[in-house]
Amino acid sequence: MSDLRERLQDLYKKKRVVGLSAEDAERLPDYLENSGLKFRFFVGDLIRRNAKGSVESLISAAATGSEEVRRSAVHLLGKICRELNDKRQAEIAETIETSLKDPDPKVRRNAAIALGDLKGPKVIGSLAETLSAEPFEWVRSSMILALGQIGGPKSATILERVNAKSDLEDEALTKARDRVAVFEVGESKRLDAFPEEREIELRSAPGLEDILCAEFVEISGREPKVVQTGSARVTVQELDSLGQVRTWREWLIPVGERDLADRSEAGFAHAGLELLVEGLETFVAIYGKQEHVSRYRIEVRGRETSHESRRKLIKHWVVDLEGRYPDFANSPSHYEAELRLQRAKTKASLYLKLTCEADTRFDYRVADVPAAMQPATAAGVVRLACPQKGASRVLDPFCGRGTLLFGRAHSGMPVGELVGCDVSGNAISAAQANRDPSTRANLSFLRGDGCSIRLEGRFDELISNLPYGIRTGSHDKNVDVYHTFIDRLPEWMNDGASITLVTQEMDLMKDLFSRSNHLSLSKVHRIDTGGLQPGVFVGMFRN
Ligand SMILES: C[S@@+](CC[C@H](N)C(=O)[O-])C[C@H]1O[C@@H](n2cnc3c(N)ncnc32)[C@H](O)[C@@H]1O
Repeated sequence: MSDLRERLQDLYKKKRVVGLSAEDAERLPDYLENSGLKFRFFVGDLIRRNAKGSVESLISAAATGSEEVRRSAVHLLGKICRELNDKRQAEIAETIETSLKDPDPKVRRNAAIALGDLKGPKVIGSLAETLSAEPFEWVRSSMILALGQIGGPKSATILERVNAKSDLEDEALTKARDRVAVFEVGESKRLDAFPEEREIELRSAPGLEDILCAEFVEISGREPKVVQTGSARVTVQELDSLGQVRTWREWLIPVGERDLADRSEAGFAHAGLELLVEGLETFVAIYGKQEHVSRYRIEVRGRETSHESRRKLIKHWVVDLEGRYPDFANSPSHYEAELRLQRAKTKASLYLKLTCEADTRFDYRVADVPAAMQPATAAGVVRLACPQKGASRVLDPFCGRGTLLFGRAHSGMPVGELVGCDVSGNAISAAQANRDPSTRANLSFLRGDGCSIRLEGRFDELISNLPYGIRTGSHDKNVDVYHTFIDRLPEWMNDGASITLVTQEMDLMKDLFSRSNHLSLSKVHRIDTGGLQPGVFVGMFRN
């Protein structure tokens, strides 16, 4: 064993990945334990390259290894599965399915992510079962996303019944439901303008509402007013500017409000129905009478209504609406309009979301990764940064699927070259698949460790969403990675370069800025990315 460890250390130092026998490959999973993060990544990489030889011991490690080993083994099994024959694939899928019930939540989460990537419909039942028993929201949200990735009517029905218990899950649920929704030809609309002026509500990541207002006024000349964190309202008739503003996550039509003075369930049932009627009337006022049946979904939000009473109320409302509006059908998985009822203690409000209006702003995204930033939020972060004038070179050393670099490429500011790097082969494949033909930007994505990769030339801007240590890694690993990465800035950056870093590690990052002789901090902006509240650290590099 020690002989192989020495040879692996040697390969690691020399950055070589060849020269292993079948027997060595079989023993590789033993080295996923008790070693530094970078070495473990290296062993993981070797396992992926020697998939056939390692698979048997990896399957056994997923069942019997320590927590740390089980986490890595399940993750790696998901990665190598497709390269193997059908028999092996079935064995791997079964092992990962069993890991959904592992006592360790990180193993369960990795199992859900792997099953989502593998997209095998056989595991839908197990995912649904473990989701209903799962106590951790960050594991639940991965299970929800996995159901969305697998797709199909069975997943759609299960997702329909899920009641999000946190913002993180809510975001995952919206993403997953979007993935399973199938629109028939003819349903996607393009509304150039409302028949008359109308107030709309634009939603951004909380903390980015002022950035959203500034971008909207720049593009349309109309200035939205912030109504609460993450929401601003503006009156418009023409809708073309909406497609150019990149920082809204969604836009809704505020339809109406009712006081819920007695706070009773019956009071909400009555007010809700009146508002839903107004919602459907608003849809007709916008699109006129349709030749086909229009489909809607009712969404009740707010803590005041239990899951059970939500279901009962929706059932009751749908029966009533069917009688009044035969041209509309309740179709919670495939719909053209969402009727969103927001219930607060003493008030109910209805928003109409025109889900049939195609949002093509981020169509370049054909591939996703679990920790990806929402692209409208990335557009907001880019606006918080201080882009340099001229054809600057921009670097993201932890680029994931490249969202921030795509956001920078579309920011309207001149740019020379954009370079992304990520240690995950999956993330780099996703970024490369997302290569955006609509921008002529010079983008390149490299697989490598941000702490050791060699990069050509120097950069004028660095913008990055650093590892959070939540899905993978940990705070201790972040301390290592962040220190090493900051130490590399003099090698990468030009004097005066702008630095924009998004991270949950507030204290660590403040400390790094204050200790560095090269960094000055100009602002820290707090945003909410769906359950997480990272800071956006904006500063400058001085040589
Ligand atoms: C918070 S995510 C960034 C997500 C990205 N902004 C996106 O939207 O896809 C952090 C990324 O850092 C990568 N990562 C973690 N450690 C790394 C390292 N040492 N070198 C390079 N990338 C690393 C992870 O694979 C992950 O994709």
